[in-house]
Amino acid sequence: MSIEEELLKTKIDVLSRLRTHRINVTEQMKQAFLNVPREEFVLEKYKERAYIDTPLPILSGQTISAIHMVMIYISSSCSDPQIGNKILEVGAGSGYNAAMFAEMVAPEGVDNPGHVYAVEIIPELVEFAKNNIERTGYSDRVTIIQGDGGIGHPSEGPYDIISVAAASKQIPPPLLEQLKINGKLIIPVGRMFYQELVIIEKKSEKDFNERSMGGVAFVPLTGKYG
Ligand SMILES: C[S@@+](CC[C@H](N)C(=O)[O-])C[C@H]1O[C@@H](n2cnc3c(N)ncnc32)[C@H](O)[C@@H]1O
Repeated sequence: MSIEEELLKTKIDVLSRLRTHRINVTEQMKQAFLNVPREEFVLEKYKERAYIDTPLPILSGQTISAIHMVMIYISSSCSDPQIGNKILEVGAGSGYNAAMFAEMVAPEGVDNPGHVYAVEIIPELVEFAKNNIERTGYSDRVTIIQGDGGIGHPSEGPYDIISVAAASKQIPPPLLEQLKINGKLIIPVGRMFYQELVIIEKKSEKDFNERSMGGVAFVPLTGKYG
């Protein structure tokens, strides 16, 4: 079996095991997972573990999220991304989640591609994510920005989806402001080691619906709202 065939078989095995997490993997999510090479978003020494469904260390003591967590974020029951959507990701890390979102909102060949703006606070990771995104061919659909994502990225807002990949004790008000009406904010809220994955839908400038998707454990959000 060639390396490409081995890789495809591994990816299909990973997808079938996602059933244990009760994730409804749509055809588009499956294509996203098959298209984005996770092995290009991990450190060289972890390449062989790229398809183990676990968070892996990246630079500066941070992690790339587990595969099932990324799949939950891009699922229809969570952020429900649509082609053409504009997404703000807070916590770009390796850039993997941003590339996965790009596959959902701007798959190759569509007439109205969306875009992913991914903010990262640690300069070393900004470079890491930029290199990974460029090398894997997503620079036309993903922009990596250095900054405090807790304050959002107002110049490109409002957004259809704001996806936060770090745990916050509170919901940063600027992120609510930068959502479109009917837009969704996905954010792990709680203390260290345990948070609820909260989904907030903006119904009007003042009304928000909130629901939880259950317990998660993310690294902390730093910056103004950390
Ligand atoms: C779990 S990692 C994200 C993994 C990432 N989504 C990926 O695909 O690799 C959380 C990231 O959030 C970043 N972070 C924490 N606080 C932040 C803030 N205020 N603004 C932007 N990024 C932040 C961390 O530096 C870290 O890279």
